[in-house]
Amino acid sequence: MIQWPPRLQLAQLPTPITRLDKYSEQFEETVIWVKRDELTGTEVSGNKIRKLEFSLAEAKEQGCNTLITCGGVQSNHCRATAILGVRLGMKVHLILRGEKPEQAEGNLLLDYLAGAEITYLPQRQWQSHQDLAAELQQDYSSKGDKAFFIPTGASDEIGLWGYIAACEELKADFERLEMVPDYILTATGSGGTQGGLIVGSELFDIDSKIAAVNVCDDAKYFEDKVNEDVTLWKQRYKQSFDSENMSIHTIEGYVGPGYGAAGPEVFKTIRELASSEGIFLDPVYTGKAFHGMVNELHKGENGQLAGARNILFIHTGGLFGVFPQQENFEF
Ligand SMILES: Cc1ncc(COP(=O)(O)O)c(C=O)c1O
Repeated sequence: MIQWPPRLQLAQLPTPITRLDKYSEQFEETVIWVKRDELTGTEVSGNKIRKLEFSLAEAKEQGCNTLITCGGVQSNHCRATAILGVRLGMKVHLILRGEKPEQAEGNLLLDYLAGAEITYLPQRQWQSHQDLAAELQQDYSSKGDKAFFIPTGASDEIGLWGYIAACEELKADFERLEMVPDYILTATGSGGTQGGLIVGSELFDIDSKIAAVNVCDDAKYFEDKVNEDVTLWKQRYKQSFDSENMSIHTIEGYVGPGYGAAGPEVFKTIRELASSEGIFLDPVYTGKAFHGMVNELHKGENGQLAGARNILFIHTGGLFGVFPQQENFEF
């Protein structure tokens, strides 16, 4: 019996699963299914909201009235936090990596519209972002506020619950569909979705392998990050989970030019899925991961998804990240 921590009900759940009949025709043996977590909401959408249900419940539990979090200028997580803060009557302060752009586009536009306070921290000073967050917490405290800090992507021992809980939903999905995929695959950027799926699939006895395509860093980074989050989760919530034998399968080779920048193959994949199935990926996370998945499937027995007859892709959202990169699509 799982002892769940406090949780707010913020996401539209359960999300549907779509079978990609047309797109999957290119494979002889594989059918791709998509868990539509981009539909957890409209403005507050994607994977972050599942994690924030737990992070924000904890903030409330601690009596905080302000949220501080951080990420890239086009962070989906920061946008979700900015909007949820308004809905919950909390102030939001974002620390964004980079310089203030001339124009606010995509996620950043929504951050401003939602009234978030924004501090830009140049890339070269980014290592100090947690110190800056601690300073801001003190400033808020001196004004009589109480600020809760959420790390990048809400990927920590609290946010881990988001995709542990998603596995309970997946278990019911698979029973209803009478299909258990050979693989469940996600993009990984700060490790929390990947880690939550690894732990949750064990706890809910889901017989699928968990694989993740990294959109930044490398497999070693995600092995360490998942181990760290799971260790802290075990300590904080007194869980007796066997983390020694976790299989942390990160598929490398698809970062492309770098975090946030994609090659033409990713934009091509986005267009192909949109025009065949009416499902939209983004160039930063889901487009790269989906492209990586398809490329590995085409390698057949020599690929990292060998033997996949059914594969479930977790669509983690990110649509607003398409618009600042629209010049990369030919039309
Ligand atoms: C749209 C989208 N997909 C995937 C991810 C990766 O998830 P995680 O940060 O849990 O690794 C993120 C955030 O980083 C995201 O915004």
